Amino acid sequence: MSDLVIRGVRPYGEGEPVDVLVRDGVIVALGARSDAAVDGVEVATDAEVLEADGRILLPGFVDLHTHLREPGREDTETIESGSAAAALGGYTAVFAMANTYPVADTSVVTDHVWRRGQEVGLVDVHPVGAVTVGLAGKQLAEMGTMAAGEGRVRIFSDDGHCVYDPLIMRRALEYAKSLGVLIAQHAEEPRLTQGAVAHEGPNAARLGLAGWPRAAEESIVARDALLARDAGARVHICHASTAGTVELVKWAKAQGISITAEVTPHHLLLDDSRLETYDAVNKVNPPLREASDAQALRKALADGVIDCVATDHAPHAEQEKCCEFAAARPGMLGLETALSIIVETLVAPGLLDWRGVAKVMSENPARIAGLDDQGRPIAVGEPANLTLIDPDASWTVRARELASISDNTPYEAMTLPAKVAATMLRGRITARDGVVTTALAGRVGQ
Ligand code: NCD
Ligand code: ZN
Repeated sequence: MSDLVIRGVRPYGEGEPVDVLVRDGVIVALGARSDAAVDGVEVATDAEVLEADGRILLPGFVDLHTHLREPGREDTETIESGSAAAALGGYTAVFAMANTYPVADTSVVTDHVWRRGQEVGLVDVHPVGAVTVGLAGKQLAEMGTMAAGEGRVRIFSDDGHCVYDPLIMRRALEYAKSLGVLIAQHAEEPRLTQGAVAHEGPNAARLGLAGWPRAAEESIVARDALLARDAGARVHICHASTAGTVELVKWAKAQGISITAEVTPHHLLLDDSRLETYDAVNKVNPPLREASDAQALRKALADGVIDCVATDHAPHAEQEKCCEFAAARPGMLGLETALSIIVETLVAPGLLDWRGVAKVMSENPARIAGLDDQGRPIAVGEPANLTLIDPDASWTVRARELASISDNTPYEAMTLPAKVAATMLRGRITARDGVVTTALAGRVGQ
């Protein structure tokens, strides 16, 4: 029997502090503070104690969109370093995108990613499978085999690439429906973005950067909503970046279409005024848009039109970023800064309360992915996948202090509000006060 007591904590930031007793990974009691028992349930004498000092307890975060770069680019991130970044960011489950080397288009790769994540033991690393072989958009991958494998793939995406061929997308949606899995689309009509490196608008025009028009995203969102309608399938829109996408998702939902969408922290906070310096740390797909798009995305997340936050954590090596803008790889780090950006853009301005944060960072992504052990209420009988948050902390981002192997954070030297004080995976503390637990306590091989 192993007991953990979280002392003096405020679930969802509401009410007076309570004690939470976790036994063998499950919440067994929750109630008024006392020394030897929690709500009448006796606490083991050797119980581990986490003093919460009135801080906020939320369900552990779930990230539907993470790039961990293993296999193939372990010089930029590994499942181990990415898991550490995730635990420090308050995550208890992440979905690792399929654009690795080799591509995760077979169960050999997806099963490996799952197993390695369990071995590391800091966060559940769920593999995303490719929709098409080699992400080439030509031939469907063996989604059924990946779904039936040990990695139990539930989300398929060619992320980094759009499933641009409408017939392939239609077949993928039909196949996904029959398997009970989800297609997550990187919405980018490639004919409209050839050579594009930045949001098409006045800033890119003035700076001489080739433009990525909003319509490249929106036309695919509209098309896929219609294809999902006709297939009776679900579709998920990755990294929504424009006000027009918000309108389209809203319209599709009103039609009863099974569509969901995510937004990244960087599209909520940053805009294309950052391009001024030509620093490629600001290069990302889809590109940073205009301030009006960021405002529309914030409102859509608060209103529930956009379902959840996903980091699109995309580590890149220094030589892939410290070069001319056109040659640089798109993508930015996100796992360790996500909560702070959500507090800055939504909680501080009063658009979202802590219950709302639990929804968009944990409950909704868990539901979209079909995880039954994540995003659960903080209540007796529920798995103890939890995040303890210090809402009053503020910290200054330093890339070299982040757990990621890569340094490409756009928030370098920015001072941000709120900090993850501890993360618990099935009752085991995986990160505490900015340090991850070193014991690798996975289930594999036990
Ligand atoms: C991602 C990457 O680097 O893998 N890059 C990015 O700019 N977002 C791919 C992706 O999410 O589209
Ligand atoms: Zn993408």
